[in-house]
Amino acid sequence: MQFFIFSIVLLVTLQKEVLSYKVTSIPMDVPSKVGYSPHWDAEYERLLFADQYGQNATICQFDYRTCKTFCATVVVKWEKDSKTACVTKEIFSLNADDSNYMDTATADCTGRLYFGTYGTEICGSTANNSLYSYSPKEGVQEVLTGYKSCFGLAFNADTNKCYFMDTCSYSISELDWCRKTGKLSNSRVIFKFDVAPGAPSYMPFGLCIDSMNNFYSGSYGGGSLLKVKVGGLSGEKGDKCSSVEEIHTPTMLIGCPTFGGPNMTDIFVTSSTLFLDFNTGKSLNENLECTKNTFPQAKEDGSLLKIEQNVLKGVAGTSVSLC
Ligand SMILES: *[C@@H]1O[C@H](CO)[C@@H](O)[C@H](O)[C@H]1NC(C)=O
Ligand SMILES: *[C@@H]1O[C@H](CO)[C@@H](O)[C@H](O)[C@H]1NC(C)=O
Ligand SMILES: *[C@@H]1O[C@H](CO)[C@@H](O)[C@H](O)[C@H]1NC(C)=O
Repeated sequence: MQFFIFSIVLLVTLQKEVLSYKVTSIPMDVPSKVGYSPHWDAEYERLLFADQYGQNATICQFDYRTCKTFCATVVVKWEKDSKTACVTKEIFSLNADDSNYMDTATADCTGRLYFGTYGTEICGSTANNSLYSYSPKEGVQEVLTGYKSCFGLAFNADTNKCYFMDTCSYSISELDWCRKTGKLSNSRVIFKFDVAPGAPSYMPFGLCIDSMNNFYSGSYGGGSLLKVKVGGLSGEKGDKCSSVEEIHTPTMLIGCPTFGGPNMTDIFVTSSTLFLDFNTGKSLNENLECTKNTFPQAKEDGSLLKIEQNVLKGVAGTSVSLC
């Protein structure tokens, strides 16, 4: 397996410590169209993620020990009289039609799965979506309504808080999480990303947190991983002491981050070859006729990025059993 080592070492002052990051691009056999929803599977030491914008939806994995990457097509087609149907069980469905998609899913530490939905136009003016939870015991519950998009969700089990990235609104919200019922309440915006007037040049995509409550989100279109320190957490005082640090990446189309690796100190970030306009859901770089395409492309587009540092630790994900 060949590795393109793209090593930029950024020196950043963090509480008087010098933190350095090494960014490595791990090529996928088929570069991801839009890689998202990464999950670190600690038991098998592998990183799993999804790519649903290709001709066929795929799930992909990166084996940490062997450094092998592999993707499998998800076969969801079931012909009534066919003997070759691959879906053996539909666990649940929600307003199932062609214009309703499921986005980033994350489990809380009890193994309850949370996920949102979005429409064809993604952030388009009518975006008004709901977040759901699912466990075999509780079934599907609606836990939050009336936001634009949920492209990142992270839990802090120590403080019983849930954090929520509304990409379309450029905001991170904090919610109270009830461990027993799974309900989320008291949603409040704790951070808003700066956007220049006019067409924004990036979208914050995905969300994960480290044990110091720093937030990480991919800058889709902006070519960096954004690390956000929120001043006045829990809704006090707002953004005054907040800061954003950029960890530059070799591809502009950065996707969703998650912590992983044996020490939980690596940050894995998916990336994309497809540049989606989040306001229309249409591609900005596939149909070259209608774009005077000047968007910088890189051979690292659609690869998986591994960002190594050894100071901050992430919160391990939880594997769930759906049936
Ligand atoms: C998508 O899946 C179909 C049916 O399984 C298969 O025939 C086709 O080759 C796949 N396309 C790609 C790009 O893998
Ligand atoms: C969004 O949908 C919810 C119901 O799912 C509704 O109560 C709310 O009024 C809607 N908000 C907007 C802005 O349309
Ligand atoms: C994990 O941490 C140990 C102890 O600090 C260190 O020796 C080792 O190199 C680390 N492994 C990785 C993969 O970062």
